[in-house]
Amino acid sequence: MTEKSTITIKTADEIEKMRVAGKLAGQVLDMIGPYIKPGISTLELNDICHNYIVNTQQAIPAPLNYKGFPKSICTSVNHVICHGIPNEKKLKDGDIINVDVTVIKDGYHGDTSKMFIVGEASVQAARLIKVTRECMMLGIAQVKAGNYLGDIGEVIENHAHAHHFSVVREYCGHGIGKIFHEDPQILHYGKAKTGLQMVPGMIFTIEPMINAGKRQTRLLPDGWTVVTKDHSLSAQWEHTVLVTESGFEVLTKRDEEDDLN
Ligand code: MF3
Ligand code: CO
Ligand code: CO
Repeated sequence: MTEKSTITIKTADEIEKMRVAGKLAGQVLDMIGPYIKPGISTLELNDICHNYIVNTQQAIPAPLNYKGFPKSICTSVNHVICHGIPNEKKLKDGDIINVDVTVIKDGYHGDTSKMFIVGEASVQAARLIKVTRECMMLGIAQVKAGNYLGDIGEVIENHAHAHHFSVVREYCGHGIGKIFHEDPQILHYGKAKTGLQMVPGMIFTIEPMINAGKRQTRLLPDGWTVVTKDHSLSAQWEHTVLVTESGFEVLTKRDEEDDLN
């Protein structure tokens, strides 16, 4: 039996709600930035985000209890690729960390993440972070009605490989709306002119995970934390993106991102 495809095309009303949720998710990343310094634990970052989402934004942190995830944000440090669980360990100078925030507001999800450098990063770490954001941006630039999902994957893969980095294949972007993870899957590798064609009103995430070493992953016994098998550094950036007739609208855009839209 074949899987039922559940790609949803959002109505104008739903798109407006996704704009609100996306904006709130981006604002959590703006809010938490100044706290990310040597000595703070990822659990403290989690608690600050949780309280901000619940009390200030009057929204819901989507990860909490999602398929049993125990915290309100994901914090992925150094060789952790994604889905890191906030804990008591303190950040130290030179660490790199991805903070991934998903909020639910008025029934709709906004999902976004960014990399932060704790203190001063190595040249290699800074390069990985920069190239990974470029991968996301190149992917976003492919979003337009009539273009193919494979167009996104190809530009991301080519850019990562040009810099001798690798692309994680086991985890991908996803459709998003009333449901956190819905169809289609957005692969961060592949071939242009293959896969689904984009349709106006589709909303999905682009969230490339790029490794400084080999692409292979390992899931830790906690059932969530995904690390690089070779312990090399990994980076990720994520936006929630709306397909329009003429191109794209980044629903989770932050004010600092003057290179978007
Ligand atoms: N925010 C992640 C994503 O980009 C998903 C986290 S699921 C969780 O898809 F359960 F780990 F929170
Ligand atoms: Co996502
Ligand atoms: Co996310």
